[in-house]
Amino acid sequence: MSIDSNSPIGIFDSGIGGLTVAKAVMQALPNEDIIYFGDTARVPYGIKSKSTIQKYSAEITRFLVGKNVKMVIIACNSVSAVAKTVVTEAAENLPVLNVIDAGTKAAIKTGKKHIGVIGTLATVHSGAYKKKLLKKDESLTIKSKACPLLVPLAEEGWTDNDVALRTLSIYLDSFKKNGVEALILGCTHYPLFKKSIRKVFEQREIEIIDSADAVASSARSRLRKLNLLNSSNKPGNLSCFVSDHPQRFRELAERFLGREIPDIYIKQLLE
Ligand code: DGL
Repeated sequence: MSIDSNSPIGIFDSGIGGLTVAKAVMQALPNEDIIYFGDTARVPYGIKSKSTIQKYSAEITRFLVGKNVKMVIIACNSVSAVAKTVVTEAAENLPVLNVIDAGTKAAIKTGKKHIGVIGTLATVHSGAYKKKLLKKDESLTIKSKACPLLVPLAEEGWTDNDVALRTLSIYLDSFKKNGVEALILGCTHYPLFKKSIRKVFEQREIEIIDSADAVASSARSRLRKLNLLNSSNKPGNLSCFVSDHPQRFRELAERFLGREIPDIYIKQLLE
């Protein structure tokens, strides 16, 4: 079956975090329509087992395929770490991009040798970043840290208050001490803490790697290569689907994107 270039791009995450990716895709590809799915009924994913994350990811991918998307972007590191193959199978013949491949490429590009990775328990325990980074350059030193409290804080909109700063300074303490030069934000919720992370590192020079821009530019080159760029010159539309509580999602998402999102629908995937 051929893919229609004017179809939307499908992007998904466990909740609001993947909007950091959607925002970057909207900037890189302003004429593309986007269908975003946030699994707000089942967030967080990062503390769940591999098989549960795989089951949820397959359901969401099938939903996006049913919406006739032309590409699937896994805007969740936890899914990219443990369910990439499942998503690729469920996406049938569609191109699938993920944030870990993009984040790894971006980290290598910095040329830094001491790299820190923060992510969910699922991402850090999978060792996905470490394996990929070392495959590209075995001379790298990589230190990883799971930060499970950050996703609930982000979903609550607590990204720059005292609680967020205190939590970040505990999680990042070892990175401050061990001379990490670049920090990979290995969870798409974490870019929401960028300013606070800089505050915690104070004057220390650190390169912060956010895979959102990297995955957005991969999406552009992949669509161009496949001749699937949208031919329209009108601004693309963002439609969001969430599995629970659309109003709560709207408030946080509009605050984060700095614009209204008229199209937020509820789609329950719970069995
Ligand atoms: N934002 C996701 C990630 O990149 C998922 C976080 C979660 O649901 O725990 O890992």
